[in-house]
Amino acid sequence: MQVDLEHEKRIAAEAAALLIEDGMVVGLGTGSTASFFVEALAARELDLRCVATSPATEAKATRLGLRVVPFGCEGAPTRLDIAVDGADQVAADGWVVKGNGGAHTREKIVAAAADRFVLIASSDKLVEQVSPPIPLELLAFGAEATIARLGRVRRRDAPRTPDGGILVDWIGPVDDPAELARLLSATPGIVDHGLFPPELVSEALVGRGDRVERLRP
Ligand code: A5P
Repeated sequence: MQVDLEHEKRIAAEAAALLIEDGMVVGLGTGSTASFFVEALAARELDLRCVATSPATEAKATRLGLRVVPFGCEGAPTRLDIAVDGADQVAADGWVVKGNGGAHTREKIVAAAADRFVLIASSDKLVEQVSPPIPLELLAFGAEATIARLGRVRRRDAPRTPDGGILVDWIGPVDDPAELARLLSATPGIVDHGLFPPELVSEALVGRGDRVERLRP
């Protein structure tokens, strides 16, 4: 039987939208699943302030009537009640890979600022353990030196991020995600990587057929 992944993304997104309450500050992720969430959230017509993790998400949210507030200046919210976002891989041990859309740096900042970070995904995103590619955002200054130092990196044919970063992917082994996350975080020139640790994730809502499964890391 063919799995309808778009349907699974949509029902996971709709389940997440039901978690949102009037007056909340809500982080909006990036990608196709997060886009379903923006639609489902806008349809609820709540009084919210939203923080968007990409210009594309901001444009869609604004067009659908959600109030998007700045997150990059004095006076911006410092804590969010909840953030909801998609994922590329959700592993059985709770590690998550994000950033195929190149927004993982902003997504991680928003996730870390949220009291509750909820992943939404179709069932194909569930994996036994995380594997390459792991998205990386590099500072443009010295990017060639950073790539040379890392070695096992694949370049992307992608525009710069909204923050001027260069997107590449780590394609070396991911035997121990915690160890690799430490290595990548300690490498000069990497703005951030797409490995999200289990402790950052409050729960994952995963569409499977016509049902939504709730997983906790
Ligand atoms: C954006 O940079 C990513 O982190 C996305 O959230 C992730 O790639 C999932 O995207 P889809 O929902 O489009 O699969």
